[in-house]
Amino acid sequence: MTGAEFDHFCQAVKARSGLSLTAEKGYLVRSRLAPVARSEGLADVPALLAKLKAGAPEELMQRCVDAMATHESYFFRDGTPFEQLAQVVVPELVAARPAARSLRIWCAAASSGQEPYSVAMVLQELGGLLAGWRTEIVATDMSAPILRKARDGIYSDFEVRRGLSPERLGRWFSKVGEAWQVSPALKQMITFRPHNLLQGVAGLGTFDIILCRNVLIYFEVERKREILAQLATALAPDGRLFLGSAETVLGVSSVFEAAPEARGLYRRSQAPAAKIA
Ligand SMILES: C[S@@+](CC[C@H](N)C(=O)[O-])C[C@H]1O[C@@H](n2cnc3c(N)ncnc32)[C@H](O)[C@@H]1O
Repeated sequence: MTGAEFDHFCQAVKARSGLSLTAEKGYLVRSRLAPVARSEGLADVPALLAKLKAGAPEELMQRCVDAMATHESYFFRDGTPFEQLAQVVVPELVAARPAARSLRIWCAAASSGQEPYSVAMVLQELGGLLAGWRTEIVATDMSAPILRKARDGIYSDFEVRRGLSPERLGRWFSKVGEAWQVSPALKQMITFRPHNLLQGVAGLGTFDIILCRNVLIYFEVERKREILAQLATALAPDGRLFLGSAETVLGVSSVFEAAPEARGLYRRSQAPAAKIA
């Protein structure tokens, strides 16, 4: 798919989300926007793109941008980061904060909630280690509909089978009709907020741990660099950053460096030259 309408849409998506679409993604645009075109009563996707270019309401543009984002997520995705969280990162930070007794965790680009609920399960299962501690998980995403799903905490049979052990399913979920509802004990640990990674980190506060997984992969290198610089300003000096298994800061940014404890884990750069932009 090409043409002025397609180019206009690609630019609009990039400006609003950072997601980078190119001409060879035409098939993706066509398949993801087809349901939106239908819901608008339009003949096809080119008609929708023409309507957007002619100046459609922002709400429609936002729906189209959301449709282009990949919301794929599942519980305990990639396994290892959650083991590192339980076995290394949380115990170290707990040991480093005997007076504050408070831990703030940010799941940036949390999609439908499996990631923050997995973090909540890890914290709950650490039991005594965090007894008497204030813990807060902030889960954000740019997409309002996906954040609604996360907040509802209702998952299909298929979704709970992806990553949850039978023990965890039995302990933290209850069956509601054909679906599974996450327990109030996990829900009350999480604050869900809309947030666009392109818009900085003002108002979010400081976090001890940030998970920003499987989203930078969709951005161009300059955007990744800007976002990593922002994440660094929101992370405590001794905090830890988790990226997705296919993501790295190497060759992208010097504000983070590999943390010594485990692979795929990052900390703010200790080198004096590594300034946070
Ligand atoms: C593939 S999901 C990753 C979910 C989860 N972090 C995981 O690893 O399973 C990517 C999410 O990033 C969100 N996203 C894309 N661009 C964003 C942006 N500029 N700001 C905030 N969220 C964004 C999408 O809406 C989507 O839900």
